[in-house]
Amino acid sequence: MPPDASQPVDAPLSRSAIFITLTVNRGGDALDALRGLCADLPSLVKAVSFRSPPAGLSCIMGLGADLWQRLDMGATPAGLHPFRAIQGVHAAPSTPGDVLFHIRASSLDFCFELATRLMQRLGGAVSVQDETHGFKFFDNRDLLGFVDGTENPVGLDLDAAVFIGDEDPGFAGGSYVIVQKYLHDLAAWEAIPTEQQERIIGRHKLSDVEFPDKDKASYAHNVLTNIEDASGQALEILRDNMPFGSAARGEFGTYFIGYAREPGRIETMLDNMFLGDPPGNYDRLLDVSRAVTGCLFFIPDADMLDRIGAGQPALDAETDAGGAADGAPTGRADGSLGLGTLKQGN
Ligand code: HEM
Repeated sequence: MPPDASQPVDAPLSRSAIFITLTVNRGGDALDALRGLCADLPSLVKAVSFRSPPAGLSCIMGLGADLWQRLDMGATPAGLHPFRAIQGVHAAPSTPGDVLFHIRASSLDFCFELATRLMQRLGGAVSVQDETHGFKFFDNRDLLGFVDGTENPVGLDLDAAVFIGDEDPGFAGGSYVIVQKYLHDLAAWEAIPTEQQERIIGRHKLSDVEFPDKDKASYAHNVLTNIEDASGQALEILRDNMPFGSAARGEFGTYFIGYAREPGRIETMLDNMFLGDPPGNYDRLLDVSRAVTGCLFFIPDADMLDRIGAGQPALDAETDAGGAADGAPTGRADGSLGLGTLKQGN
């Protein structure tokens, strides 16, 4: 079971998504507007999703390291830091991002309506860094033609992979996410014979069946991203990658989004892909896929969003490590409506 108050990180992968990355402008008013939205996010999501629950609308709000410092929460989630750029065989840039909205639904209208409401609330308090509209492509394929998402953890494994637990009790129920926008050189990819494409991914293209381990290339994507801890336990993440693009502009991309209970495992996968494991044995997907953004965010749970909304410190004064807030925050200095909680579902 996911922790009670968590944001719906583990919501079912959807047919449509909007990803918005923002920076929060300087000044107290901008921070107040952001705090107000943190408090009212659940009720805004509910207002849109109630119009048709089967649309499965969900929204995750993530906060970046610089913004967290500005919010002056008194304590910082253990894994929160700016995305670290990588300069390897290929480059992974680090780009600005204080806030991420990951909005998912079965159809784009729900995503678009919620995105509009969120942006109306934030108004002049923020600057847009990126907005990407993602879509599912046939049988969950990326624009390179391979089924993407097959090996995602499910059930208890999923919860164990994505939600912070006792290792950081003050922030338990939260999560981390790394996003990167990749642009593909489709002509170059299509010039590669299918057999070699399959070696690069480590799976058969049509059937999506994985190669036996003994037949996988050392540089296969599913070798470099398959990592374990010191005791041999698999370190898993949840991916909800989405194709995006513009046929007219000849733009074909994959929006990578990976959730985990600590960002280190995603960073290790990225090192393996960009630097290579061993060094130089890099991911050949990158020969045809250029990362153009890179951001890391903490995903507070509903209690923590309430605390931000109310301008309260992250941790209770009387408990060292805090734990989840044990009561509804009082007194809203932020001008928010003070409605709703994620616990009631959205
Ligand atoms: C251009 C961007 C990317 C594309 C097109 C892509 C595509 C794919 C595909 C087709 C698979 C095989 C099917 C599946 O299990 O989902 C896969 C697996 C996977 N990818 Fe990616 N991926 C991309 C970037 C990344 C990044 C940046 C990471 C992590 C930092 C990552 C982590 C993984 C993991 C953990 C798996 C499962 C490996 C396994 O255990 O079999 N991917 N990806």
